[in-house]
Amino acid sequence: MLDWTDRHCRYFLRLISRHTLLYTEMITTGALIHGDRERFLRYDPAEHPVALQLGGSDSEDLARCARMAEEWGYDEINLNVGCPSDRVQNGRFGACLMAEPVLVAECVTAMRAAVRVPVTVKHRIGIDERDSYAELVDFVGRLSEAGCDAIIVHARKAWLKGLSPKENRDIPPLRYEIVRDLKRDFPQLPIVINGGIETLDAAVDFLSDLDGVMIGRAAYHNPWILAEADRRVFGDTHPAPTRRQVLEAFIPYAERQLAAGVPLNAMSRHLLGLFQGQPGARAWRRRISEQAHRPGAGVEVLGFDNHARP
Ligand SMILES: Cc1cc2nc3c(=O)[nH]c(=O)nc-3n(C[C@H](O)[C@H](O)[C@H](O)COP(=O)(O)O)c2cc1C
Repeated sequence: MLDWTDRHCRYFLRLISRHTLLYTEMITTGALIHGDRERFLRYDPAEHPVALQLGGSDSEDLARCARMAEEWGYDEINLNVGCPSDRVQNGRFGACLMAEPVLVAECVTAMRAAVRVPVTVKHRIGIDERDSYAELVDFVGRLSEAGCDAIIVHARKAWLKGLSPKENRDIPPLRYEIVRDLKRDFPQLPIVINGGIETLDAAVDFLSDLDGVMIGRAAYHNPWILAEADRRVFGDTHPAPTRRQVLEAFIPYAERQLAAGVPLNAMSRHLLGLFQGQPGARAWRRRISEQAHRPGAGVEVLGFDNHARP
């Protein structure tokens, strides 16, 4: 998620769940080819398994970027066909590509040929007036034939004109049954459902007939919902860490990053949901919000020993 799931956020989430697959923000092919590649691609080895999400629609550029990402060690390459923002539409990528299934299939073919790691596509159930099930089946069928290893379906359509990106994440109704229908019609294709899933219980329910669940906003705002994922979904038998242990484990990372010049608030902003619902959480959040942006702010701001204990 743009501006949210940066490398600091992912490092933090990984302390809560070892096995959940984490996704980068969307990175455009243009940024990787012409921009500061190191800035966009670097990550901490602890983040594995981590998928890189690309935005683009030029098959050669996408293949080149997929290869780059594989060389950097990413575990999956995902193509964004779900973002409806104007900027993205102007660049001819994101959700508007649902109107160009042939082009998307070409892109998947090129990426698939370029790398060994899984190539996946994240998309909507439709856009604008192109929202019939037949069109969706045509789209998914072409992806599948192109060798797409899995699809992640945000179970609502997007309106490309008239709704903001935020509205497009809330207003079009969620239609989970469509994703289940896709699974019935494409039983061989791994299908991951996304949209409005807020608890691990809900995620586990979906896993009885789908292959995976992607959680976006809820995992960011209340990351503790991932705390039992390793045991309940991945069969890990390690005991779950406590919230405090997660925070303590983040401190050495934050110290290393501070020493490398990363400001504290670039990291601490992702931690704010950690103690959600716990006594003392509000005071802890307030302290971070008030102090983490100050020049020279250090890890002591994150501590919980000298104020109301969360
Ligand atoms: C701040 C923000 C940034 C997002 N950025 C991306 C993105 O870069 N790529 C993407 O595929 N989806 C992005 N999304 C959409 C989410 O991945 C997800 O599809 C959507 O929020 C619905 O799932 P949820 O209800 O679990 O959040 C973003 C969502 C938010 C709130």
